[in-house]
Amino acid sequence: MIVTIDGPAGAGKSSAARALARRLGFHFLDTGAMYRAVVFMALEQGVELDDSDALERVAAGLDIELSDDAVLVDGRDVTRAIRTVAITSATRYAADHPNIRARLVELQRAAAEGQDFVTEGRDQGSIVFPDAECKIFLTASERVRAERRYHDLMARGETVTLEEVLEKQHERDERDATRPIGALIQAPDAVVLNTDGMSPDEVVDRLYEIVQQHK
Ligand code: C5P
Repeated sequence: MIVTIDGPAGAGKSSAARALARRLGFHFLDTGAMYRAVVFMALEQGVELDDSDALERVAAGLDIELSDDAVLVDGRDVTRAIRTVAITSATRYAADHPNIRARLVELQRAAAEGQDFVTEGRDQGSIVFPDAECKIFLTASERVRAERRYHDLMARGETVTLEEVLEKQHERDERDATRPIGALIQAPDAVVLNTDGMSPDEVVDRLYEIVQQHK
C-alpha cells in the first residue's frame, strides 16, 4: 500500500509521516531530503548552483540512500547537514530542474515498488504515485507553519527571527505553487487535513484513522 502525504513547507509533514509509517509498520520516504542532498553535494563539490548541466551531472552520479531515519549520500551521513537554513533556500535549484526531478521521481518509484510506503513531499499524490491507495494533503495556516519551523530551527541552534522565517516560507510557498513541473498540487482524491491547533500526536492519530479508512 502507498500512502502519500503532500503539503506546504512547515505543515509538519516529515515528523507526522515518519511517525505514521512507524505505527503502520511501513517504510518511509522523505522526498524533500533527496532534493536537499543534491544541492548539498553540489556545494561540497564546488559546483555553481545556477550551472544547470553541472548540477544535473552531480544528481546523476549520486548514490542516495534513504533509510527510515537517516540520509546517506555516497555513503556519507548528511541527515543533519541538509537541514540548515542555507540548504533549505538553495534546494530550489534542484527542485526547479526538470531532469533532476525526472531522475529523483524514478528513484522514488523504484524505492516504493511492491512495498508498503508512506511517502512525503509536494508531488507524491499528484505525479509520482497517482494510483496511491491513500492520499493526504497536510496543511496549516501560514502563521502556525512559520511558528513551528521557527521553534525547530531555534532548537537546532540556528539564529533566526520569526519574521525571517515567515518571509522565507512565503517565498517557498510561491515557488512550490508556480514550479512548472512538480508544483505543489492537491490531488483531487486527497483527504485534506489542516493541523492548526492539533498536537503532533493528534495529527498522527488522525492520519492513522484516514489510512484505516482507505485499506
Ligand atoms: O520538504 P522539504 O522542506 O524537505 O523540501 C525541500 C524542498 O524540496 C522544498 O523547497 C520543496 O520545494 C522541494 N520538494 C519538491 N518536491 C518534493 C519534495 C520537496 O520540489 N517531492
